[in-house]
Amino acid sequence: MVNLAIIGATGAVGIEAIKILNDTDIQYDNLKLFASKSSVGKKYVIRHKDYYIEEVKETSFNNIDYAILAVSEDLSRQYILWSKKNKSKCVFIDNSCAFRMDKNVPLIIPEINFDSYKNENVIANPNCSTIIMLMVLAPLHKKNQIKQIDLSTYQAASGGGLPAMQELIEQTHSYVKNEEMQTKIFERQYLFNAFSHDSKLDMETKFNSEEIKIINETKKILNVKENDFFSMENYNINAHILSYLIFATICHMMNIILGYWIENNFILIGIFLAIVFCLLKNNQNLNKMIINPTCIRIPTLRSHMESITVTFKNKTTEDQIKKILEESSGVKIYDHPEINKFPEPLITEHKDEIYVGRIRKSYDGNSRVFQMLVSGDQIRKGAALNALQIYEKILSNK
Ligand SMILES: NC(=O)c1ccc[n+]([C@@H]2O[C@H](COP(=O)([O-])OP(=O)(O)OC[C@H]3O[C@@H](n4cnc5c(N)ncnc54)[C@H](OP(=O)(O)O)[C@@H]3O)[C@@H](O)[C@H]2O)c1
Repeated sequence: MVNLAIIGATGAVGIEAIKILNDTDIQYDNLKLFASKSSVGKKYVIRHKDYYIEEVKETSFNNIDYAILAVSEDLSRQYILWSKKNKSKCVFIDNSCAFRMDKNVPLIIPEINFDSYKNENVIANPNCSTIIMLMVLAPLHKKNQIKQIDLSTYQAASGGGLPAMQELIEQTHSYVKNEEMQTKIFERQYLFNAFSHDSKLDMETKFNSEEIKIINETKKILNVKENDFFSMENYNINAHILSYLIFATICHMMNIILGYWIENNFILIGIFLAIVFCLLKNNQNLNKMIINPTCIRIPTLRSHMESITVTFKNKTTEDQIKKILEESSGVKIYDHPEINKFPEPLITEHKDEIYVGRIRKSYDGNSRVFQMLVSGDQIRKGAALNALQIYEKILSNK
């Protein structure tokens, strides 16, 4: 018997989760829908059965096995705390950013890193722009290490939830009627405008929190261990050979100077110097990944778009990149240069796959640098669908 709950069922992500449950045969025995007090009693019909919104109480999670959290960061923290306090066994899949960078919480895109799930009770769904980007870049990184990502996002209103979508629609009506526009959500005219992402700006780095999420979450999901001084994963054979040559030269010189002592300790000193040199070499960012995001809000309703320039460690070709992406699940190549048609928000909205196109080598012919356009429905694969895919995978692995 599996008891599933959607918390925040009346919001953009919650409604999409309900839609997916209605349209698919994702397994559950009992389903409960929760939202705020003001939505209690609201009715949803799922698989021909009526469900009514309930209010979340401290004990609500006692009889729930899996909960998809689609509420604010603060509420996610509070509900998980209530569940722990009541010793509930509920497994939470959280759409908010509350636990994403917690080292005890796996941050999962099922197609990429489901193996990082080790039966934890809280699983984090990554940021929507991160999911959309990594669905395309992770399979490429697996074959040819990515050294740098330069990214510009063009993000839809829906990223700000239902109220942001409503405001954009209302501004459109106001424009047509020549009335004054309401600017409650983004504090500016959104219609016919584009602006730097509305998330909080870090005054020291000048990056906003959306951009910082993309940088940190990408490294966590791809398991990029930067500057990890003692990581054996970063051990580099060239560093080893080079260090041994330097060691041999130093020993030869020392041998001339110190004679007997150095001869007797030759092997020990050799191993010591080789290790020190490898670690020093390792620290020269051998495994470094530079990520330069700029996040922009544009007046589309749903589906984000991203322009990505990626620098690989080794040379590659457009055909090799396309072949990898053709074989990647959840990714669709949409590339029609003959009619100048590539992924667009209106093409990808309500779709499960992340679309990629306009894949091209850098204009100066550098075979390590490629550019592409990516678009995906961030309420769907960027949130609700990804969460439900995690849920399905956990069930099928039981
Ligand atoms: N939108 C996206 O594209 C997207 C993508 C990835 C992640 N996320 C994350 O997913 C979460 C939900 O986002 P959203 O866009 O769906 O937001 P939203 O449209 O604003 O919906 C918020 C939901 O939270 C509910 N809620 C508010 N107060 C509550 C309370 N006290 N108890 C229970 N439920 C309460 C609301 O219920 P009422 O209707 O009753 O107020 C509503 O169902 C956020 O953490 C967001 O950052 C969103």
